[in-house]
Amino acid sequence: DWIMGDYIAEAVAKIREQVGDEEVILGLSGGVDSSVAAALIHRAIGDQLTCVFVDHGLLRLNEGDMVMDMFAGKLHARVIRVDASELFLGQLAGVTDPEKKRKIIGGLFVDVFKAEAAKLKAGDGGHKGASFLAQGTIYPDVVESGGTKTKKAITIKSHHNVGGLPEQLGLKLLEPLRELFKDEVRALGVALGLPAEMVYRHPFPGPGLGVRILGEVKKDYADLLRRADAIFIEELRGWKDEATGKNWYDLTSQAFTVFLPVKSVGVMGDGRTYDYVVALRAVQTSDFMTADWAELPYGLLKKVSGRIINEVRGINRVTYDVSSKPPATIEWE
Ligand code: XMP
Repeated sequence: DWIMGDYIAEAVAKIREQVGDEEVILGLSGGVDSSVAAALIHRAIGDQLTCVFVDHGLLRLNEGDMVMDMFAGKLHARVIRVDASELFLGQLAGVTDPEKKRKIIGGLFVDVFKAEAAKLKAGDGGHKGASFLAQGTIYPDVVESGGTKTKKAITIKSHHNVGGLPEQLGLKLLEPLRELFKDEVRALGVALGLPAEMVYRHPFPGPGLGVRILGEVKKDYADLLRRADAIFIEELRGWKDEATGKNWYDLTSQAFTVFLPVKSVGVMGDGRTYDYVVALRAVQTSDFMTADWAELPYGLLKKVSGRIINEVRGINRVTYDVSSKPPATIEWE
Protein backbone atom coordinates (compact mmCIF):
# COMPACT_ATOMS: atom_id res chain seq x y z
CA ASP A 1 0.00 0.00 0.00
CA TRP A 2 0.91 3.66 -0.23
CA ILE A 3 2.32 4.14 3.28
CA MET A 4 4.44 0.99 2.98
CA GLY A 5 5.62 2.16 -0.46
CA ASP A 6 6.78 5.37 1.15
CA TYR A 7 8.51 3.49 3.93
CA ILE A 8 10.35 1.29 1.43
CA ALA A 9 11.51 4.30 -0.60
CA GLU A 10 12.87 5.93 2.53
CA ALA A 11 14.57 2.75 3.79
CA VAL A 12 16.12 2.15 0.36
CA ALA A 13 17.48 5.70 0.25
CA LYS A 14 18.98 5.28 3.72
CA ILE A 15 20.71 2.02 2.81
CA ARG A 16 22.13 3.52 -0.39
CA GLU A 17 23.45 6.49 1.51
CA GLN A 18 25.04 4.34 4.21
CA VAL A 19 26.58 1.80 1.83
CA GLY A 20 27.60 4.05 -1.06
CA ASP A 21 29.47 1.93 -3.60
CA GLU A 22 30.70 -0.58 -1.03
CA GLU A 23 29.70 -4.24 -0.77
CA VAL A 24 27.58 -6.06 1.80
CA ILE A 25 27.42 -9.66 3.10
CA LEU A 26 24.31 -11.09 4.73
CA GLY A 27 23.75 -14.46 6.39
CA LEU A 28 20.51 -15.81 4.97
CA SER A 29 18.80 -18.49 7.07
CA GLY A 30 15.41 -18.69 5.39
CA GLY A 31 13.81 -17.24 8.52
CA VAL A 32 11.59 -14.16 8.37
CA ASP A 33 14.04 -11.52 9.59
CA SER A 34 17.05 -12.38 7.44
CA SER A 35 14.79 -12.91 4.42
CA VAL A 36 13.13 -9.51 4.72
CA ALA A 37 16.48 -7.83 5.38
CA ALA A 38 17.90 -9.51 2.27
CA ALA A 39 14.94 -8.47 0.09
CA LEU A 40 15.12 -4.86 1.31
CA ILE A 41 18.88 -4.51 0.92
CA HIS A 42 18.74 -6.18 -2.48
CA ARG A 43 16.07 -3.67 -3.54
CA ALA A 44 18.43 -0.89 -2.48
CA ILE A 45 21.81 -2.04 -3.79
CA GLY A 46 21.27 -5.08 -6.03
CA ASP A 47 24.51 -6.95 -6.74
CA GLN A 48 26.46 -5.03 -4.12
CA LEU A 49 24.78 -7.51 -1.74
CA THR A 50 25.93 -11.13 -1.43
CA CYS A 51 23.88 -13.50 0.70
CA VAL A 52 25.51 -16.50 2.33
CA PHE A 53 23.16 -19.39 2.99
CA VAL A 54 24.72 -22.08 5.18
CA ASP A 55 22.84 -25.36 4.85
CA HIS A 56 23.64 -27.43 7.95
CA GLY A 57 21.66 -30.43 6.71
CA LEU A 58 19.14 -30.03 9.51
CA LEU A 59 16.62 -27.98 7.59
CA ARG A 60 13.09 -28.99 6.67
CA LEU A 61 12.12 -30.81 3.47
CA ASN A 62 13.23 -28.87 0.35
CA GLU A 63 13.94 -25.80 2.46
CA GLY A 64 17.34 -25.10 0.96
CA ASP A 65 16.00 -25.31 -2.58
CA MET A 66 13.09 -23.03 -1.69
CA VAL A 67 15.42 -20.39 -0.28
CA MET A 68 17.55 -20.57 -3.44
CA ASP A 69 14.51 -20.45 -5.77
CA MET A 70 13.23 -17.37 -4.00
CA PHE A 71 16.39 -15.33 -3.64
CA ALA A 72 18.62 -16.46 -6.48
CA GLY A 73 15.74 -17.47 -8.78
CA LYS A 74 12.98 -14.91 -8.36
CA LEU A 75 14.81 -11.91 -6.84
CA HIS A 76 18.02 -12.49 -8.87
CA ALA A 77 20.11 -11.82 -5.79
CA ARG A 78 23.69 -13.08 -5.45
CA VAL A 79 23.43 -16.03 -3.08
CA ILE A 80 26.19 -18.43 -2.12
CA ARG A 81 24.83 -21.74 -0.86
CA VAL A 82 27.26 -23.60 1.36
CA ASP A 83 26.33 -27.25 1.71
CA ALA A 84 27.91 -28.11 5.04
CA SER A 85 25.67 -31.02 5.97
CA GLU A 86 28.47 -33.60 6.01
CA LEU A 87 30.57 -31.42 8.27
CA PHE A 88 27.71 -30.93 10.72
CA LEU A 89 26.59 -34.56 10.73
CA GLY A 90 30.18 -35.70 11.17
CA GLN A 91 30.73 -33.49 14.21
CA LEU A 92 27.41 -34.54 15.71
CA ALA A 93 28.10 -38.28 15.45
CA GLY A 94 27.88 -39.90 18.86
CA VAL A 95 26.69 -36.72 20.61
CA THR A 96 23.43 -37.10 22.54
CA ASP A 97 23.34 -34.22 25.02
CA PRO A 98 21.01 -31.41 23.83
CA GLU A 99 23.19 -28.54 25.02
CA LYS A 100 26.32 -30.15 23.51
CA LYS A 101 24.48 -30.51 20.21
CA ARG A 102 23.45 -26.84 20.33
CA LYS A 103 27.03 -25.74 21.01
CA ILE A 104 28.44 -27.85 18.18
CA ILE A 105 25.85 -26.65 15.66
CA GLY A 106 26.13 -23.00 16.73
CA GLY A 107 29.94 -23.10 16.73
CA LEU A 108 30.23 -24.76 13.32
CA PHE A 109 27.68 -22.37 11.89
CA VAL A 110 29.76 -19.39 12.90
CA ASP A 111 32.97 -21.04 11.61
CA VAL A 112 31.48 -21.81 8.20
CA PHE A 113 29.92 -18.39 7.87
CA LYS A 114 33.12 -16.64 8.92
CA ALA A 115 35.15 -18.57 6.34
CA GLU A 116 32.76 -17.50 3.57
CA ALA A 117 32.63 -13.93 4.83
CA ALA A 118 36.44 -13.74 4.88
CA LYS A 119 36.55 -14.80 1.22
CA LEU A 120 33.95 -12.19 0.30
CA LYS A 121 35.80 -9.55 2.25
CA ALA A 122 38.93 -10.30 0.24
CA GLY A 123 36.99 -9.90 -3.01
CA ASP A 124 37.57 -11.59 -6.35
CA GLY A 125 37.05 -11.11 -10.09
CA GLY A 126 34.78 -8.11 -10.45
CA HIS A 127 34.21 -7.72 -6.72
CA LYS A 128 36.33 -5.38 -4.70
CA GLY A 129 35.50 -7.00 -1.38
CA ALA A 130 32.81 -6.47 1.22
CA SER A 131 33.03 -3.93 4.02
CA PHE A 132 29.56 -4.35 5.58
CA LEU A 133 27.88 -7.21 7.38
CA ALA A 134 24.09 -6.98 7.29
CA GLN A 135 21.94 -8.55 9.98
CA GLY A 136 18.19 -8.94 10.31
CA THR A 137 18.16 -7.57 13.85
CA ILE A 138 14.69 -6.32 14.76
CA TYR A 139 13.59 -3.98 17.55
CA PRO A 140 12.78 -6.67 20.15
CA ASP A 141 16.33 -8.10 19.66
CA VAL A 142 17.78 -4.66 20.33
CA VAL A 143 15.74 -4.27 23.50
CA GLU A 144 16.61 -7.77 24.67
CA SER A 145 20.34 -7.24 24.38
CA GLY A 146 20.13 -3.79 25.92
CA GLY A 147 19.81 -4.92 29.52
CA THR A 148 16.01 -5.11 29.83
CA LYS A 149 16.23 -8.85 29.62
CA THR A 150 13.51 -9.43 32.20
CA LYS A 151 11.80 -12.37 30.56
CA LYS A 152 14.88 -14.50 30.09
CA ALA A 153 16.15 -14.39 33.64
CA ILE A 154 16.72 -18.13 33.62
CA THR A 155 18.46 -19.70 30.67
CA ILE A 156 16.89 -23.08 30.07
CA LYS A 157 18.38 -23.54 26.63
CA SER A 158 21.31 -21.74 25.06
CA HIS A 159 20.30 -20.09 21.81
CA HIS A 160 23.10 -19.51 19.44
CA ASN A 161 23.99 -15.93 19.39
CA VAL A 162 25.99 -14.36 16.59
CA GLY A 163 26.82 -11.23 18.55
CA GLY A 164 30.28 -9.81 17.96
CA LEU A 165 30.62 -11.17 14.43
CA PRO A 166 31.07 -7.79 12.69
CA GLU A 167 33.94 -6.86 15.01
CA GLN A 168 35.60 -10.25 14.59
CA LEU A 169 35.35 -9.95 10.83
CA GLY A 170 36.34 -6.30 10.74
CA LEU A 171 33.11 -5.35 8.99
CA LYS A 172 30.73 -2.46 9.54
CA LEU A 173 27.24 -3.32 10.64
CA LEU A 174 24.11 -2.73 8.54
CA GLU A 175 20.81 -3.37 10.32
CA PRO A 176 17.91 -1.94 8.34
CA LEU A 177 15.17 -3.61 10.44
CA ARG A 178 16.43 -2.33 13.80
CA GLU A 179 13.41 -0.12 14.42
CA LEU A 180 10.71 -2.57 13.38
CA PHE A 181 8.49 -4.91 15.33
CA LYS A 182 7.84 -8.41 14.02
CA ASP A 183 4.44 -7.58 12.49
CA GLU A 184 5.98 -4.59 10.70
CA VAL A 185 8.79 -6.78 9.39
CA ARG A 186 6.20 -9.21 8.00
CA ALA A 187 4.20 -6.40 6.34
CA LEU A 188 7.42 -5.07 4.82
CA GLY A 189 8.30 -8.53 3.52
CA VAL A 190 4.95 -8.88 1.78
CA ALA A 191 5.27 -5.37 0.30
CA LEU A 192 8.72 -6.34 -1.04
CA GLY A 193 7.13 -9.28 -2.84
CA LEU A 194 8.07 -12.14 -0.54
CA PRO A 195 5.37 -14.83 -0.44
CA ALA A 196 3.01 -14.63 2.56
CA GLU A 197 3.81 -18.29 3.24
CA MET A 198 7.43 -17.38 3.91
CA VAL A 199 6.72 -14.21 5.83
CA TYR A 200 4.10 -15.74 8.15
CA ARG A 201 6.05 -18.89 8.94
CA HIS A 202 6.26 -20.36 12.41
CA PRO A 203 9.61 -19.82 14.13
CA PHE A 204 12.27 -22.48 13.52
CA PRO A 205 15.17 -22.96 15.94
CA GLY A 206 18.71 -22.24 14.79
CA PRO A 207 19.87 -25.82 15.50
CA GLY A 208 16.96 -27.00 13.36
CA LEU A 209 16.18 -30.69 13.30
CA GLY A 210 19.26 -31.17 15.49
CA VAL A 211 17.06 -30.57 18.54
CA ARG A 212 14.03 -32.33 17.07
CA ILE A 213 15.81 -35.66 16.73
CA LEU A 214 16.16 -36.80 20.32
CA GLY A 215 19.63 -37.95 21.25
CA GLU A 216 22.12 -38.73 18.50
CA VAL A 217 21.47 -37.02 15.17
CA LYS A 218 21.68 -39.32 12.15
CA LYS A 219 21.01 -38.61 8.50
CA ASP A 220 18.48 -41.46 8.23
CA TYR A 221 16.53 -40.05 11.17
CA ALA A 222 16.59 -36.56 9.67
CA ASP A 223 15.31 -37.89 6.34
CA LEU A 224 12.38 -39.70 8.01
CA LEU A 225 11.60 -36.70 10.19
CA ARG A 226 11.63 -34.27 7.25
CA ARG A 227 9.04 -36.32 5.39
CA ALA A 228 6.78 -36.78 8.41
CA ASP A 229 7.00 -33.09 9.31
CA ALA A 230 6.18 -32.00 5.76
CA ILE A 231 2.98 -34.07 5.89
CA PHE A 232 1.98 -32.55 9.24
CA ILE A 233 2.56 -28.99 8.01
CA GLU A 234 0.79 -29.61 4.70
CA GLU A 235 -2.30 -30.94 6.48
CA LEU A 236 -2.31 -28.08 9.01
CA ARG A 237 -2.25 -25.60 6.14
CA GLY A 238 -5.04 -27.41 4.34
CA TRP A 239 -7.38 -27.96 7.30
CA LYS A 240 -9.79 -25.10 7.76
CA ASP A 241 -11.52 -24.26 11.01
CA GLU A 242 -15.19 -23.52 10.25
CA ALA A 243 -15.68 -21.08 13.11
CA THR A 244 -12.82 -18.71 12.18
CA GLY A 245 -12.32 -19.53 8.50
CA LYS A 246 -8.59 -19.87 9.21
CA ASN A 247 -6.43 -22.91 8.63
CA TRP A 248 -4.79 -24.69 11.54
CA TYR A 249 -1.29 -23.62 10.57
CA ASP A 250 -2.34 -20.01 11.12
CA LEU A 251 -4.29 -20.94 14.25
CA THR A 252 -1.17 -22.36 15.91
CA SER A 253 1.98 -20.46 16.90
CA GLN A 254 4.37 -23.32 16.25
CA ALA A 255 3.86 -26.86 15.00
CA PHE A 256 6.37 -29.54 14.12
CA THR A 257 7.27 -33.21 14.37
CA VAL A 258 9.78 -34.77 16.75
CA PHE A 259 11.74 -37.94 15.99
CA LEU A 260 11.89 -40.49 18.80
CA PRO A 261 14.67 -43.03 18.32
CA VAL A 262 12.67 -45.87 19.82
CA LYS A 263 11.05 -48.74 17.98
CA SER A 264 7.62 -50.16 18.55
CA VAL A 265 5.73 -53.07 17.05
CA GLY A 266 3.07 -52.61 14.43
CA VAL A 267 1.21 -54.59 11.83
CA MET A 268 1.07 -53.88 8.13
CA GLY A 269 -0.82 -56.23 5.80
CA ASP A 270 0.09 -59.75 6.91
CA GLY A 271 3.39 -58.68 8.41
CA ARG A 272 4.81 -57.37 11.62
CA THR A 273 6.68 -54.06 11.63
CA TYR A 274 9.20 -52.83 14.16
CA ASP A 275 9.76 -49.17 13.39
CA TYR A 276 10.31 -45.68 14.78
CA VAL A 277 7.89 -43.31 16.49
CA VAL A 278 7.26 -39.60 15.88
CA ALA A 279 5.45 -37.10 18.09
CA LEU A 280 3.40 -34.24 16.72
CA ARG A 281 3.73 -30.96 18.61
CA ALA A 282 1.46 -27.93 18.12
CA VAL A 283 1.17 -25.01 20.51
CA GLN A 284 -0.60 -21.72 20.89
CA THR A 285 1.21 -18.90 22.65
CA SER A 286 1.61 -15.15 22.55
CA ASP A 287 5.21 -14.92 23.73
CA PHE A 288 6.71 -18.47 23.64
CA MET A 289 7.49 -18.17 27.36
CA THR A 290 4.33 -20.09 28.21
CA ALA A 291 2.33 -22.15 25.73
CA ASP A 292 -0.75 -24.36 25.58
CA TRP A 293 -0.88 -27.48 23.48
CA ALA A 294 -3.31 -26.88 20.63
CA GLU A 295 -6.65 -28.66 20.58
CA LEU A 296 -6.30 -29.82 17.00
CA PRO A 297 -9.40 -31.46 15.50
CA TYR A 298 -9.40 -35.25 15.81
CA GLY A 299 -10.10 -35.54 12.10
CA LEU A 300 -6.92 -33.63 11.32
CA LEU A 301 -4.83 -35.75 13.71
CA LYS A 302 -6.29 -38.89 12.20
CA LYS A 303 -5.45 -37.81 8.67
CA VAL A 304 -1.88 -36.79 9.57
CA SER A 305 -1.20 -40.02 11.44
CA GLY A 306 -2.65 -42.15 8.64
CA ARG A 307 -0.59 -40.37 6.01
CA ILE A 308 2.67 -40.50 7.95
CA ILE A 309 2.37 -44.20 8.72
CA ASN A 310 1.36 -45.08 5.16
CA GLU A 311 3.75 -42.80 3.32
CA VAL A 312 6.86 -42.79 5.49
CA ARG A 313 8.20 -46.34 5.60
CA GLY A 314 10.21 -46.65 8.80
CA ILE A 315 7.65 -44.91 11.02
CA ASN A 316 4.76 -47.01 12.30
CA ARG A 317 3.45 -44.98 15.22
CA VAL A 318 2.43 -41.34 15.69
CA THR A 319 1.69 -39.71 19.03
CA TYR A 320 0.36 -36.26 19.95
CA ASP A 321 2.09 -34.22 22.64
CA VAL A 322 -0.46 -32.90 25.19
CA SER A 323 2.03 -31.08 27.44
CA SER A 324 1.86 -27.37 28.09
CA LYS A 325 4.75 -25.01 28.89
CA PRO A 326 5.56 -24.91 31.73
CA PRO A 327 6.44 -27.50 32.86
CA ALA A 328 7.29 -28.91 29.42
CA THR A 329 9.16 -26.73 26.93
CA ILE A 330 7.94 -26.27 23.36
CA GLU A 331 10.84 -28.18 21.79
CA TRP A 332 11.64 -31.60 23.25
CA GLU A 333 15.31 -30.77 23.71
P1 XMP B 1 11.36 -23.81 24.26
O1 XMP B 1 11.61 -25.18 23.73
O2 XMP B 1 12.49 -23.29 25.11
O3 XMP B 1 11.29 -22.88 22.98
O4 XMP B 1 10.02 -23.69 24.96
C1 XMP B 1 10.87 -21.53 22.98
C2 XMP B 1 11.07 -21.00 21.56
O5 XMP B 1 12.46 -20.94 21.28
C3 XMP B 1 12.78 -21.75 20.18
N1 XMP B 1 14.08 -22.40 20.44
C4 XMP B 1 15.24 -22.06 19.85
N2 XMP B 1 15.52 -21.12 18.92
N3 XMP B 1 17.79 -21.76 18.98
C5 XMP B 1 16.80 -20.98 18.49
O6 XMP B 1 17.08 -20.15 17.63
C6 XMP B 1 17.59 -22.73 19.92
O7 XMP B 1 18.53 -23.40 20.35
C7 XMP B 1 16.24 -22.88 20.38
N4 XMP B 1 15.65 -23.69 21.29
C8 XMP B 1 14.34 -23.40 21.31
C9 XMP B 1 11.65 -22.75 20.05
O8 XMP B 1 11.53 -23.26 18.72
C10 XMP B 1 10.47 -21.91 20.49
O9 XMP B 1 10.00 -21.09 19.42
